[in-house]
Amino acid sequence: MTIVDAKDLTPAQHTSLWTLLADSYEHGARQRWAYPETHVVAWSETGLARAHAGVVGRSGYCDELAASIGGVCGVRTAEHYRSLGLATTAVGQAVVLLRERGVDFVLLCCDGELCGFYERLGFAPWDGAFRCSRPLPQTVMVLPLKKTPRKSIDLCGLPW
Ligand SMILES: CC(C)(COP(=O)(O)OP(=O)(O)OC[C@H]1O[C@@H](n2cnc3c(N)ncnc32)[C@H](O)[C@@H]1OP(=O)(O)O)[C@@H](O)C(=O)NCCC(=O)NCCS
Repeated sequence: MTIVDAKDLTPAQHTSLWTLLADSYEHGARQRWAYPETHVVAWSETGLARAHAGVVGRSGYCDELAASIGGVCGVRTAEHYRSLGLATTAVGQAVVLLRERGVDFVLLCCDGELCGFYERLGFAPWDGAFRCSRPLPQTVMVLPLKKTPRKSIDLCGLPW
């Protein structure tokens, strides 16, 4: 696994990564999501992206107080590389990175069927009030770090 800032991706890495992520951001919907600022990537020997977890940071609100919110997004493993623990490792490294950056808690959005996968990594479904800049049909999950959100979370912008 390597950790690379979005701005430091080579053109070839960028192409390979966004080929892997195409289905996750399908139909030109990328602009309706916040982009990862940092990528945790497993590359193949030939330099192709095989598994990914994205990292975003956001200044938002938690229980009506300013909060530093860390995000994990774009979790995906190429089909032939699944069930090898790659996504688990990538998400784990993303969380370590966000912990080092001092965020208050980590948040992600996923389809309901994947809740079990993220629960194994310490996330729990969020059932408090949630605000972001557009309707979000996905399940929101939270991993408390310095703060444990109790009542409300406001992303103050696009979800990831
Ligand atoms: C979900 C995904 C990222 C898992 O990647 P991975 O590298 O295979 O994950 P790991 O090897 O670390 O863990 C595998 C375990 O995750 C769980 N899992 C995988 N897909 C799942 C799903 N759709 N629903 C529930 N659990 C799932 C299973 O427990 C699986 O264990 P198993 O292989 O023994 O059945 C991968 O299947 C994928 O890219 N899916 C399509 C994109 C997607 O749904 N991304 C999540 C967006 S929030």
